[in-house]
Amino acid sequence: MITNSLLYENSKLAAKSIKDPMSGFVRMIIPFMKEGDFKILDCGSGNFRNVIPLQDENLEVWSFDPFMDYFLGKKHYPSEILVERDPRLQDDFDIVISNYVLNVLPTEYRDPAIDLLKSITTPNLMIEVRGFTSSFPPGSWKRYEDGWVTSTPTFQKAFEVNDLINIADQFNYPVRKYSKKGESLRLWLSEEENTYVSNFKNL
Ligand SMILES: C[S@@+](CC[C@H](N)C(=O)[O-])C[C@H]1O[C@@H](n2cnc3c(N)ncnc32)[C@H](O)[C@@H]1O
Repeated sequence: MITNSLLYENSKLAAKSIKDPMSGFVRMIIPFMKEGDFKILDCGSGNFRNVIPLQDENLEVWSFDPFMDYFLGKKHYPSEILVERDPRLQDDFDIVISNYVLNVLPTEYRDPAIDLLKSITTPNLMIEVRGFTSSFPPGSWKRYEDGWVTSTPTFQKAFEVNDLINIADQFNYPVRKYSKKGESLRLWLSEEENTYVSNFKNL
């Protein structure tokens, strides 16, 4: 059964990776982020592995995570997952990043996480999730809903293109870019006109 403690394990996993380099996807969009005076939100920032280097690039980056207290070192284990709106999320952002968040959430938490993204005003939404690779899933993992409970245990879903199409369909703006690199699926939705670069049919 998926419990809050399992989600907490997922978050600890993010914290363990504090020495991780910034995500390749986020690094790839730095030139775009530098094109303007943009206000950026990392929604589900975990251990800040993307936030800190982006701030080092002099970008205005805000972060939100329901386990923020944990990542700020307070080691507080919330009795409930705090997915209600953080007052700071009522601001408008130019770019919102959701990096390796949706793939660690079973549907009961994934749908509210998607709703949260929908509720944040932004013309650019960048989503990166885990996709299938030849080594997914390792033999010891147990099926749960549309994903797997790992031996850690954490929840992991490997996304397929159709899952991303379903997510993209829930937002009212077009796909500016979609790409797949290794285990990573990357989706950039943009409200801006005439920015259409590729769509899923190009795969
Ligand atoms: C695997 S970590 C990824 C962290 C970071 N984005 C990174 O790439 O290293 C997943 C993160 O999603 C956060 N999370 C869980 N539920 C969320 C929600 N509803 N909205 C946003 N983030 C959430 C967890 O607390 C955790 O920090």
